[in-house]
Amino acid sequence: MTVDWFTSWFNTPYYHILYKHRNDNDAQLFMKNITQFLQLPTTAHIADLPCGKGRHSVFLNSLGYKVTGGDLSKNSIKHAKQFENENLKFEVWDMRNPLENKYEAVFNLFTSFGYFEADSEDITVLKSMKNGLKEDGYLVLDFLNVAKLKESIVKKETKNIENIEFHIQREIKNGFILKHISFFADGKQHNFTEQVKFLELEKFQQYFEEVGLEIQQIFGNYKLEPFEAKTSDRLIFVLK
Ligand SMILES: C[S@@+](CC[C@H](N)C(=O)[O-])C[C@H]1O[C@@H](n2cnc3c(N)ncnc32)[C@H](O)[C@@H]1O
Repeated sequence: MTVDWFTSWFNTPYYHILYKHRNDNDAQLFMKNITQFLQLPTTAHIADLPCGKGRHSVFLNSLGYKVTGGDLSKNSIKHAKQFENENLKFEVWDMRNPLENKYEAVFNLFTSFGYFEADSEDITVLKSMKNGLKEDGYLVLDFLNVAKLKESIVKKETKNIENIEFHIQREIKNGFILKHISFFADGKQHNFTEQVKFLELEKFQQYFEEVGLEIQQIFGNYKLEPFEAKTSDRLIFVLK
């Protein structure tokens, strides 16, 4: 049986090593800004899907929210569980499955969408997140801005982190952004390819229409400045 790339790669320790320098201050600023923008009362229950090791969930909980984080990676959830409390829970969850509860807000953060081959699977994910919303609940989807990435794509780079030399190659092919990652670690050669669908604003609009989600706002970065196709780093939707 072949294992999907997103099941294996994200469950390795190497994924967390490669991304260890990502900016958690930015992530926290984003969570502060977005919860203020949505005027979420601290009684709100937020779902963070997929949550990885729980960095957004833990911070949201520290702001007073009840948070449930779900992720497919068993190792990430095992790690996140150490932070659990009465109002912070984590579970292994496939985002294609229907949500069991209803939430004031569902957050899909840091390019956690567009991993699947078929559009029908993207639609399934959107439907299950929509069905997890309470009446008047919000879905926040934080994706990369592929229009900018296309113009500024770094085709080849090498990163040395924790004594691992990661060789990275990027290409846009067959409607996907492919990031080939190869490295030697723990006595063997590893090769992974991250695959994120090249989803532009118009394609998202089609998806949302099909699912019955309404765009309330589009932001272009974590400071919540307006989206500009040419310059924005992020494509962040607030949906109802
Ligand atoms: C780019 S990471 C972002 C994680 C988290 N939002 C963060 O910012 O740290 C994407 C996450 O999606 C998870 N994932 C991939 N496919 C999934 C699926 N089908 N269901 C649930 N989680 C999935 C991975 O395990 C990984 O933790």
